[in-house]
Formats: sequence, C-alpha cells, structure tokens
Amino acid sequence: MNDAPLLQAEALCRSYRSGDDTIVVLDRVDLVVQPGEMTAIVGASGSGKTTLLQILGTLDAPDSGRLFFRGRELTGKNEPDLAGHRNAHIGFIFQFHHLLPEFTALENVMMPGLINGRPRTALKEKAQHLLEQVGLGERLHHRSGELSGGEQQRVALARALVMDPALLLADEPTGNLDAASGNRVFTLLRELSSNLNLAVVMVTHNMDLARAMDRRLTLAEGRLHPDSSPASGDRPCPPPTTADR
Ligand SMILES: Nc1ncnc2c1ncn2[C@@H]1O[C@H](COP(=O)(O)OP(=O)(O)OP(=O)(O)O)[C@@H](O)[C@H]1O
Ligand SMILES: [Mg+2]
Repeated sequence: MNDAPLLQAEALCRSYRSGDDTIVVLDRVDLVVQPGEMTAIVGASGSGKTTLLQILGTLDAPDSGRLFFRGRELTGKNEPDLAGHRNAHIGFIFQFHHLLPEFTALENVMMPGLINGRPRTALKEKAQHLLEQVGLGERLHHRSGELSGGEQQRVALARALVMDPALLLADEPTGNLDAASGNRVFTLLRELSSNLNLAVVMVTHNMDLARAMDRRLTLAEGRLHPDSSPASGDRPCPPPTTADR
C-alpha cells in the first residue's frame, strides 16, 4: 500500500443536466498525484476545473470512475467516512473562499482544528504562525469580512494548511494577489511540499505560477492533457500530402 500514489483518479465522468441538454464536463479523466508533487491545472473558464477539484476532494461524486487515496478506494464510501477522510488528509481553498465573515482571521484559521477538538493553545500558535507566513501577521484580529479579497485568499490558504494535510486542493488561490503576495504563497507551498511532502493540485490562470509547478495539465473537452496545450497524441494524424517534394 505504501507504494501507492497519494491520489489516483481513474476514468472520472461527470455531466450536468440543463433542461433537455446534458453537458459532459469530465470525460474519463485519469490523474495520478504523488506525495509532495505540485500540479497545476489550467484550462478555459467553464472547462470543468472546479468540478474536477470537488470530485478529487470527495465534495462531489463522479457519475462513474474511481478515486483512490493511498491505494484505498474512496468511491462509494458514505458521507461520514468521506468527511473524516477530508478532515484528516485534505486542505481546500475554494474559488470563493467561504470564510466566516463575523470571525477574525485567526479564528477562521483555527476553525478546522476547533471542530476537531485540537488543544486550543497549540492550535492558536500554529494558526498565528501560518498567518504570519502568508504576510498577515498584522491582521490576526481583523474580522475576515473586513479584509481585502487578496487578504481573504491568504486567510483561506492558512486555514487550508492548519491541519497539516497531505494534499492541498486549491482553486485559483492567487487570483486576487499582487505579484509579491503570489510569490510568497508559492514559496510557502514549495517549502511545505519539500519539507512536509505536501502535494498540491492547484487550478490557476496564472501561467508563470503554473510553469513554476512540477507539472502542468490542461483541462479541455473533458480530458486532462499534459503541458499547456491539448496533447497532440489525442488528435488523429493528418493525411499525408503529396506537396512536400
Ligand atoms: N451545478 C451545476 N449544474 C449545472 N451545470 C453546472 C453546475 N456546475 C457547473 N456546471 C457547468 O459545468 C461546466 C464546468 O464548470 P466548472 O465550474 O467546473 O468550470 P471551471 O473550469 O471551474 O470554470 P472557471 O474557470 O470559470 O471557474 C460549466 O459549463 C458550468 O456551467
Ligand atoms: Mg472554477
């Protein structure tokens, strides 16, 4: 089991119904993520990136296909089991952060640990340290509803990391950040990936960031393609021309 990848998705399919139409969003997506690996997922708006992340994180179920975590199959498990899995192993940064606006930055970051009954003092120290690492040491006691969009994004990142997940699923975590803050976030994730073997699957439209990751995958027409353009191997070869010679 220990040789198994951290995360493995096999032939994931997901469609949505809209009136009489069916939109096929994921069309037999395969993905293997190794511990500590940093993967960027890019693709046009509406190509299915959020849908894929939600399925990889067990927040949504595929119509068909299978999902494994450290070799253990997750597909078909009941919701309490999946909630336990998410809590123990996965950090999420959602496209729209879902912070609790009435709570402070520090309380938001502590929240997953409080829900899990972690000792308060150690949790507070850890949350504070993470907020400092993302550049928000001066904003610990601000209510999150009073923070800027980029500050909220960084609080969401700290919250996603507070339980020491093995896998971070991040949906556009640097979309509202200036270059310096975006670099700081990337540096932190790279450190965690090297030091703690944190694997990261990050949806981003920032090509510089995507290029700095270990690999880039493009979601297009329901499939994941290596690198930044649809894989040529998926296209039939053109017929030979006679005009070459
Ligand atoms: N609950 C839903 N019901 C019906 N259609 C949906 C639903 N959720 C998503 N879709 C459709 O599925 C497609 C993929 O959506 P998704 O949110 O995964 O795209 P995305 O790649 O994350 O886009 P963006 O870059 O804009 O965030 C879109 O065409 C969207 O309209
Ligand atoms: Mg999205």
